[in-house]
Order: sequence, then structure tokens, then C-alpha cells
Amino acid sequence: MYSSLIDGITTDPAAMVIPMDDHMVHRGHGVFDTATIADGYLYELDAHLDRFHKSAAAAKIQPPFDRATMREILIQTVASSGCKLGSLRYWLSAGPGGFGLSSSECTMSTLYAVVLSLPAIPDPDMGVTVITASTPMKHPQFATMKNVNYLPNALSKLEAESQGAFAAIWLDDEGFVAEGPNVNVAFISKSRELLVPEFDKILSGCTARRTVALAPKLVESGVLSAVKVTKISPEQAKDCPEMMLIGSSLPITPVVKWDGQVIGNGEAGPATIALRNLVVDDILNGPSAVRIPVPYTGEA
Ligand SMILES: Cc1ncc(COP(=O)(O)O)c(C=O)c1O
Repeated sequence: MYSSLIDGITTDPAAMVIPMDDHMVHRGHGVFDTATIADGYLYELDAHLDRFHKSAAAAKIQPPFDRATMREILIQTVASSGCKLGSLRYWLSAGPGGFGLSSSECTMSTLYAVVLSLPAIPDPDMGVTVITASTPMKHPQFATMKNVNYLPNALSKLEAESQGAFAAIWLDDEGFVAEGPNVNVAFISKSRELLVPEFDKILSGCTARRTVALAPKLVESGVLSAVKVTKISPEQAKDCPEMMLIGSSLPITPVVKWDGQVIGNGEAGPATIALRNLVVDDILNGPSAVRIPVPYTGEA
């Protein structure tokens, strides 16, 4: 863990602490982001940092360091951990300074980062089931910034689990398909279009955006007919033969059942598998702009 309060990195779990008077702890005044570590590289770190800075500005938190310094600290934290497969999660908090509401009492904003190891990139053939969430969705102002107020997200995950599902999918205030609790969703229409919900009321997922950027390759090869970021009604979505969840932790997982209705033939569809292979290949072999090498010093 890195903490700007000590301006240092620790590998001792007992020292991985946040002060109780930090406004991120008792007021939820903080933002965060997560980047994947795969094969000793940080995937899409700069896209995640762009979003982190946008979230910070929306939450009115001035980072304690400039962007280049923060980026270097994050890379060094991964290097110190020795982790080659996992994720880097980092938070920017209004900071410690008291138990009031206004961050004007905070002495300085704080940066924290932790490295989490993961056993493996999840199995592509493991299709999941989803339900439509009844837990209310966050207002767009809060859904579009990645802030630490994930109570609706956590409750919607519990709602899904209580019904034996992997995730609950939100519909927005106009009834269009929005997103899951920590994933974006996408569909393959009967005419083989990749359909991704617009990002204006949901989190702009780095993995979903990267998928949209890479997908034209599958249009060239004839797997897809088009790539569209658009409003999608639940009726249109449920008529699609393929549905998938997209997010850093997955990166693409097929959905085989939604609200009890079987999607397609109930198995991972060919376009979903092709998209997943495309993104996994990008994670493992993509260009240097999306793969930042971690300068490990010792053996992990
Ligand atoms: C609410 C929400 N939507 C979508 C995503 C997927 O975003 P990403 O692909 O950047 O992980 C996440 C994950 O961070 C999330 O928390």
C-alpha cells in the first residue's frame, strides 16, 4: 500500500491504514479507480488516470501531486508489490482533518493505493445470469464519477446474489439499459451489431471504451456488422442473441440468462467470444500506449 500521509509504500498489512478522521472514511468524500495488472504490465493506466482526474475534479478534490508524480507513485507501488497478475486500486480523498462535513477543514488531500493479486483472468466460457435491478440507480452526476459511494452498487450486487444471479442491471430514468454494479453491458443484435449503451448517465468504462475502439477489427473480419454506442431499450436488448458484461475485472463475460429469459442458445455466443479474445490479446500483447511495463526490482 502507498499512502501520501507517510509518502511511502508498505508491504506490512498492519501498516495499511487510513485515519478515522479522513473525510473519505466518514463522509464518502473520495474518488477511486482500478487498473489491471497482467503479465507484469499495467493495462490502460493512462485511460484510468484520465477518468480518476475527471472524478477528482467533479468531487472538488485537488490532488496532492501533479499527474506525472502520481503516475510514477502508482507504478512504483505495483513494482514494490511484485504482483504480476492482479489489480491496482487507488483513491484520492478530501483528506483528514476532523469530523465535519466540509472538506475546508481537511489539512490536505490524500492519495492511497493498494495492489490486489488475482488468481487468473476469469474463464471465458463461464456464462453468468443477471437480473434487472430494483435497487435505485445513482443520479447521473454521481454515476458518471467514480466516487467511493458504492452503497447502491453493493446493495444491487446483494440483490442479484439473493436471486442466484451474478449481477443486477440498472435501467436509467428513461427506462434504457444502463450498467451493472461494477461492469458495463453490451449486446450483439440479430444483425450482428455490437450495441453499447451511451455513457452519459453511467460510468464511462475504460474496458467498454477500449472494446468499442478495437471492435472495428471484427467488422473487417465479418464477425460484426457494425459498432454502435446508442440508447438501448430492455425490449431491444432482450431480443439480442448475445449479451455480455464488460469491465476491468472480467474483461468480457457472456450473459446467458436475464430475468429468467435465456439469451440466444444459453451459451457464450461467437461474437462475445471473439470480442473477449480481442480484448485479452490487447491486454497481453497490445501496443505500448495501453501496456505500461512495471519496473520490478526483485523476484516476485
Ligand atoms: C459502476 C461501474 N460501471 C462500469 C465499470 C467498468 O469500468 P472499467 O471497465 O473501467 O473497469 C465499473 C468498474 O469500475 C463500475 O464501477
